[in-house]
Amino acid sequence: MRISLASDHAGFTLKEEIKKFFDENNYQYHDFGAFDQEPVDYPDLAYLAARAVQKGDCERGIIVCGTGIGVCMAANKLKGIRAAHCGESFSARFCRQHNDANILTLGSRVIGVGLALEIAQIFLETPFEGGRHRRRVAKIHRLEGS
Ligand code: RB5
Repeated sequence: MRISLASDHAGFTLKEEIKKFFDENNYQYHDFGAFDQEPVDYPDLAYLAARAVQKGDCERGIIVCGTGIGVCMAANKLKGIRAAHCGESFSARFCRQHNDANILTLGSRVIGVGLALEIAQIFLETPFEGGRHRRRVAKIHRLEGS
């Protein structure tokens, strides 16, 4: 699985920690930036990472900003994207099992590195349950553009 990664300046340090974790655990990723802590606009970076998932270049994405909220809002504007903002493990598990989330967003100013990595790992390793959830996820996408 290839993972698209991005952050704004506020999420930069946590993104680097996530990359370290990915390198140590043989996850494949593409880093779309930011590449330093110079202020940038989070929708620009969210777009790059979400677009890679939308096009099928990456199967999942992880995007970090200060709260995890702005990048979540931005990513969810792209057709086919189901971004979930998670601050604990339960949501990370169920956004995959029930919502088939393809992007995880994290708030670097809200949670610590240890929890963020646990959430990321759960998000990447938990499969979608399908069944009745497939119908519901399809209904989410019928709302696109309305
Ligand atoms: C940047 O200061 C901050 O607004 C951004 O990282 C994010 O939290 C937006 O939702």
